[in-house]
Amino acid sequence: MRPHNKSSSNHNHQTRRPTVLYLVLAAVFFSLLVFSIQSSFFTGARKVDLIAENDIRILSEFQSGVQQCVANRGFGLTAHIIDHCNLILKFPEDTKSTWYNEQFKVYEPLQYKYNVCETLLLWEQYRNMTTVLTREYLDSRPKGWEDYAPQRIAQLETKKCYNKTPCEEHLNLILPAKPPFHPRQFHKCAVVGNSGDLLKTEFGEEIDSHDAVIRDNEAPVNEKYAKHVGLKRDFRLVVRGAARNMVKILNGSADEVLIIKSVTHRDFNAMIKNITNPVYLFQGIVLRRGAKGTGMKSIELALSMCDIVDIYGFTVDPGYTEWTRYFSTPRKGHNPLQGRAYYQLLECLGVIRIHSPMRSKRKQDWSDVPSQEMIIRAHAAALRLKRTQGDQVGDLGQFGSCKVWGNVDPDTKGPVSGSPDMSDVRKFSNYNKWEVMPFGSLRKEARDHFIQMEGVSLYKMDGNKLDDLVCVRHSLKSEV
Ligand SMILES: *[C@@H]1O[C@H](CO)[C@@H](O)[C@H](O)[C@H]1NC(C)=O
Ligand SMILES: *[C@@H]1O[C@H](CO)[C@@H](O)[C@H](O)[C@H]1NC(C)=O
Ligand SMILES: *[C@@H]1O[C@H](CO)[C@@H](O)[C@H](O)[C@H]1NC(C)=O
Repeated sequence: MRPHNKSSSNHNHQTRRPTVLYLVLAAVFFSLLVFSIQSSFFTGARKVDLIAENDIRILSEFQSGVQQCVANRGFGLTAHIIDHCNLILKFPEDTKSTWYNEQFKVYEPLQYKYNVCETLLLWEQYRNMTTVLTREYLDSRPKGWEDYAPQRIAQLETKKCYNKTPCEEHLNLILPAKPPFHPRQFHKCAVVGNSGDLLKTEFGEEIDSHDAVIRDNEAPVNEKYAKHVGLKRDFRLVVRGAARNMVKILNGSADEVLIIKSVTHRDFNAMIKNITNPVYLFQGIVLRRGAKGTGMKSIELALSMCDIVDIYGFTVDPGYTEWTRYFSTPRKGHNPLQGRAYYQLLECLGVIRIHSPMRSKRKQDWSDVPSQEMIIRAHAAALRLKRTQGDQVGDLGQFGSCKVWGNVDPDTKGPVSGSPDMSDVRKFSNYNKWEVMPFGSLRKEARDHFIQMEGVSLYKMDGNKLDDLVCVRHSLKSEV
């Protein structure tokens, strides 16, 4: 009978009823409001959590794939998973550590920790990058001429080019107006190191079957070594010390593109005037950890132009103890185990494919490397996680890392490299073969990429990461 009592008691206080009713209604309304705000907040957060959970699951599965790949291909290397992004690569306990660090009085360690998410993001981004220094980059980058250009020129009297003329004088010879090479330009590329292990196999024909071959410094290419290293010559990455011998090495190979991976130098400029080859300046990143060798630069260049990167002559398999060269006596190298572990990781992330005498029996079997679909899924998951953890929430687009924008006026074509400073030899050069290549003659994949990227070229800004990019927009109309 309580309801009845209640109603009668209400009846007794009839005059106060409206006020109480309003108060009750207001309280109910207010708590409903608070509740609905809270619950919508929670379902929002819950949604983000679910996406993150899903991404972590995708990455964990991917880690298992990488672990399996390392077990199958790593010659004793094993992967130990820490979490969805981090893992440790370990060499077997009985590995002989031959490299001694004089400074810290220790042998190199037998295990290396890697962040797979970061590594995947870095190297997949490379597939969209421009890695040759251009005029449009220097024009677009803040203080590109004043601060950055002088860093790439040895023997410049000043640290800064407040007036860009002296910098231009040094760089003109090797500075194209816009990128001479394009992402996806080649299907398969061979990157050939200089290791002596090349003499143990006959990879020559296989190397020559690639769409482009990238070689290093003074590597000789001739009949004597043909069956080991092939004869095809498309790109050669050089440091400035190699300038002296280049005229002889390039004799008979007028189309081979020379790419300077160090600073440029007066010796270089003098040499360039004596050759007809196209010459450019490389703009890569500084990898502090991971592989230190100069071979990494060739891989960076290759990834910025090629779908598939096959590497030869890098002695990156665990088990090698010596640094050798196929054409001369050995030189002492840097810490080998760290690089070896890193290369194995890169193979298991689908970045490179390693060829060596140790693998010659199963060289064409890549079934234990994670598939392209798995890599794309893992990359997307790593990108979402990174963007939601950082302060760039929501910006998942292909230009999410563009910090600085440049626009190229389609009407001003700009000079091809070298034109203001033409030696007699270079007047007959093929250096503009790439620079004036018509868009229509590019490989379809490269054209599709260009269109999908809305004609934007991506360049790195600084440091060893690709988080901040300089992005230069070209008019699609002028090209298509
Ligand atoms: C280039 O090679 C040709 C023959 O192959 C030779 O006659 C010439 O002297 C060489 N030039 C240089 C600069 O080595
Ligand atoms: C370039 O050629 C000139 C004339 O043939 C020669 O005197 C000079 O030493 C050459 N320079 C280099 C760097 O090869
Ligand atoms: C790379 O280019 C492709 C188009 O070919 C695009 O879909 C993708 O978002 C780009 N990725 C990055 C990280 O820029």
